Amino acid sequence: MTEHNLTPEAVNPAIANASHRTQREAAVNPIEYTQLIAEVATLRLLLEVNESTALLQAQRADRAMARLREAAEAREAQANQLRQVTEASIDSVFVLDAAWRVQYVNALGGALAPGQEILGRPLFDIFPYLEHAAFGRHARQAMAERVQVCFLELCPAGQWFEISVSPVGDGLVIFLRDVTNARQQDELLRRSEKLAAVGRLASSISHEINNPLESVVNLLYLIEHSDSAGDEMRTYAQLAASELSRVSHIVTQTLKFHRQSVSAQHSRLSDILDSVIALFQGRLLGMKVRVHRRFDADDSLSCLAGDIRQVFANLIGNALDALQGQGELWMRTRRSCDWSGSERVPGLRITVADNGSGMSDHTRRNLFEAFYTTKPNTGTGLGLWVSQGIIQNHGGRVRVRSSQRPGRSGTVFSVFFPLVHNTPDSDHP
Ligand SMILES: Nc1ncnc2c1ncn2[C@@H]1O[C@H](COP(=O)(O)OP(=O)(O)OP(=O)(O)O)[C@@H](O)[C@H]1O
Ligand SMILES: [Mg+2]
Repeated sequence: MTEHNLTPEAVNPAIANASHRTQREAAVNPIEYTQLIAEVATLRLLLEVNESTALLQAQRADRAMARLREAAEAREAQANQLRQVTEASIDSVFVLDAAWRVQYVNALGGALAPGQEILGRPLFDIFPYLEHAAFGRHARQAMAERVQVCFLELCPAGQWFEISVSPVGDGLVIFLRDVTNARQQDELLRRSEKLAAVGRLASSISHEINNPLESVVNLLYLIEHSDSAGDEMRTYAQLAASELSRVSHIVTQTLKFHRQSVSAQHSRLSDILDSVIALFQGRLLGMKVRVHRRFDADDSLSCLAGDIRQVFANLIGNALDALQGQGELWMRTRRSCDWSGSERVPGLRITVADNGSGMSDHTRRNLFEAFYTTKPNTGTGLGLWVSQGIIQNHGGRVRVRSSQRPGRSGTVFSVFFPLVHNTPDSDHP
C-alpha cells in the first residue's frame, strides 16, 4: 500500500462515516460541524503518526532481517570451510551422535567401507570387528567419561592406524591416520641398524681371527716340513693346512664384504661376482649346483664395490634358495647398451640366472616391495628392495623374467649399469 492511496477515509471506516455525517448534518448544526471537522483533523494526524511509526518499524525489521541473513550466510560459509578442511585432511574423520550413529564422514573415511551406506548407521554395524578390538574399549571410555583417548590399532587388513577419539556435543569425533608406511620405515631402520651392527661384529671377529690363523698356518707348515714328523703326521698337517686355508679365505671375504667403499672406485664386476661365490662356497659344497661363469674381459665399472657386492650376494642367495639343493646357476657380464627414451646408453649388463623353482605372477609383481617374502622362516623380504635402491643409486636398472613351467622353470635377473654416471658417495663411514 503506497502513501498516495492511503487516504484517511480509505483506511478508517470511522473517519469515512464521520465525514459523511458531517456533510449531511452541516446544514443542521454548525457547532457540531466545526467539532467534527476538528475531530477529523485529529484523526488524520493520528493516522499520519501511526503510518510513520509503522514505516519505522518496517525499516527496523528489514535491517534485522538483513543482519540475520548475513549471520546465516557467514555460518554457512564457516560450515563449508570446515567441511573442506576435513575433506582435505589426511585423516579419516567420523562424527557420531550419542547413539553411535554416523552423522558425518569425510571421503577418506568413506573409503574405509567401500560400497556401504555409512551416514545414519551405527559405527559398529559398519565395522563390526572394531567393537571387540581395543578401539571398542577406548571409544566407549571416551563416550562415557567425555575424555579424549589416543591409541594405535592394527586392522585385519594389516594396516596400522593412529586413532584419536574426542567428545563433541553429546557424541564423538574420531580421527584415524594410516601410519602403516611410517611403521614399516621404522622397522626397516631398526633391522638395517641391527644388520650393520652384526656386520661390524663379524668384521671385527674376522679381523681378530686372522692373526692367530696365520700363526697356526705357519706352524702347520713347519710340521709338514719337519724331518722328525712321520708321513702320517705330514698328511694330517697338510689336510689341516688346506682346511685352514678355507677358513682364512672366508675370513678375508667377510672382511672385504663388510669393508664398505666410501667413494666410487673402478672395480671389475667379475671379481665382485667371484668374491660373492667364494662366500657361498660352504653352502655350495652341500648342494649339487653347477656354477657357470661367462665374464667379459673388460667389465670394470666405477661403483661402490661394497654395495654392488651386496646386490649380487642377494641375487645369488635367492637363486640358491630357488634351486633347493640342485641345478644350474649362470653368471654373465657383458658390455651392452640400454635405451633412455631415444638415447642409447652404453653400459654393462650382468645376468644371474637359475633353473630353480621360478616364481608366481604375484611374487613377480611384488618382489621389489619391502618385506615381501615367500620365505617366512628365513627371509626378511628386504634383499631385493635394498638391491633395487643400490642399483638405482648407480643409475642402473634391474629386470626379471621367470617361469614356473614344469621342466623349464627358472629365473633370470638382468642388471644394467650405465658406464657414465655420477655415482653417489656411500653413506657408510
Ligand atoms: N631367483 C629366484 N627364484 C624364485 N623366486 C625368487 C628369486 N629371487 C627372488 N625370489 C622371490 O622374491 C622374494 C623376495 O626376495 P628378497 O630377496 O627381496 O627377499 P627374501 O630372499 O625372501 O629375503 P631376504 O631379505 O633374506 O633376502 C623371495 O621371497 C622369493 O619368493
Ligand atoms: Mg633374498
